[in-house]
Amino acid sequence: MTETRGQWSGRLGFILAASGSAIGLGNLWKFPYITHENNGGAFVLVYIAAIAVVGVPIMIAEVLVGRHTQLSPVGALKALGKDRPGGTVWQSLGFLGVLAGFTILSYYSVVAGWTIHYTWMALSGDLAELAVNPDALGAYFGGEFLANGAQQTMYHVLFMGLTTGAVYFGVKGGIERVAKILMPLLGMILVVLVIYSTTTSGFGEAMRFIFNPDFSTLTTGSVLEALGHAFFTLSLGMGAMLTYGSYMGRDISIPRAALQISFLDTLIALMACVIMFSIINTSGVEVSKSSTILFTTIPTVLVKLPGAGLLIALFYVLIGFAALTSTISLLEVVSSYAIDELRWSRHRATLTMGGVITLFGVLNALSLGGNTSLSSFNLIGRQSTQGLFGTMDYLASNWYLPVGGFLVALFVGWVLGPKMTRQELETGHGEFRGYGLWRFLIRFAAPLAVGAIIVSVILGKEYQ
Ligand code: PHE
Repeated sequence: MTETRGQWSGRLGFILAASGSAIGLGNLWKFPYITHENNGGAFVLVYIAAIAVVGVPIMIAEVLVGRHTQLSPVGALKALGKDRPGGTVWQSLGFLGVLAGFTILSYYSVVAGWTIHYTWMALSGDLAELAVNPDALGAYFGGEFLANGAQQTMYHVLFMGLTTGAVYFGVKGGIERVAKILMPLLGMILVVLVIYSTTTSGFGEAMRFIFNPDFSTLTTGSVLEALGHAFFTLSLGMGAMLTYGSYMGRDISIPRAALQISFLDTLIALMACVIMFSIINTSGVEVSKSSTILFTTIPTVLVKLPGAGLLIALFYVLIGFAALTSTISLLEVVSSYAIDELRWSRHRATLTMGGVITLFGVLNALSLGGNTSLSSFNLIGRQSTQGLFGTMDYLASNWYLPVGGFLVALFVGWVLGPKMTRQELETGHGEFRGYGLWRFLIRFAAPLAVGAIIVSVILGKEYQ
């Protein structure tokens, strides 16, 4: 059975694909805007702590379960839970992952589709014309663009087509190949944009904002938001890392890979902040609605530069690439369930699941239409009033991912024995000196921290 499952070609393949999953709209869009809303510095430090204390241990836990069982979430948790306390109940955690993958993909792909439209507008010159007047661009985005159901649907379908195409060709031939092409390109575009940022007059202020902590502005809400975002940005709590781990060879070190992926993800989030804040500070534009900066403020600044059309196009291509390697992992979680558990062929699984999610996502795309007021517009991670789109996002960010992460930590920390987990983590690694620390974090720190998010959501104090 295991022979027919895909495998990464090696360590690099896994790292690139998993980083591709982690690095996405969460890094390039959401992180800069929540950093802006939470006043920079101190929030960034708390976020980095959340990645280290909660994110990395849970990523190690997920990959461990995947590689040990060589199965996707439902099968993996069924197999491991069977003879242990809790029994078959654990497999419902796998189903929660499939549900989360389905839910997130159905709206994430709509937003990802916007990058196609904006790339197109940048190349055709339409964006340059609109962006001369910031108000006109804001009105266009919040009004004409979002309300155009046919267009929203078209770009969403297009993006889902690209996603389905990649997953269709399998682990090595599709997912890994796309990541190996797009991730280096993404790195290069980012470096170019960071270098460009250093030449702008707003660069110094941006660096101070991001790296100079002022703890007096930090609130409990900010801490919870940083924690919640650590899950989203590292693709945790829904089995994406578990699934990717199941295609991993036994000669690869899990702790080292998890550290590298988390480091890359954090680095790119910070680079995105440097770029975004340098541009905004240089422009002198007052940002009132930070969640839409990417589609409203940024072009109005870039448009003034020499070679603007190409630069803006490059910028949106970058975001589109990052989003694509993330949507691929979301679809892989859902498809691999059908492949492993329902014994479907990969082709049948991807086409069916991709098709169903595309159809459901159309409802999300159309739900944007009724609301043309930018001031009431909240995107990813917010409890928003944005119809179905907002509900899907609310459920995923506030419920599915934290609950999934909490249960994974309990399962791996308390239900799986230390002998089994140590052995898996030392396979491909040698003696794992950090084992004691990891086990402490996964048993105590992670459940407590994530538990705090869940309690705050239950009490109705949504952190996002
Ligand atoms: N990590 C992705 C991002 O930052 C989103 C994602 C979440 C992808 C969960 C897969 C699973 O954009």
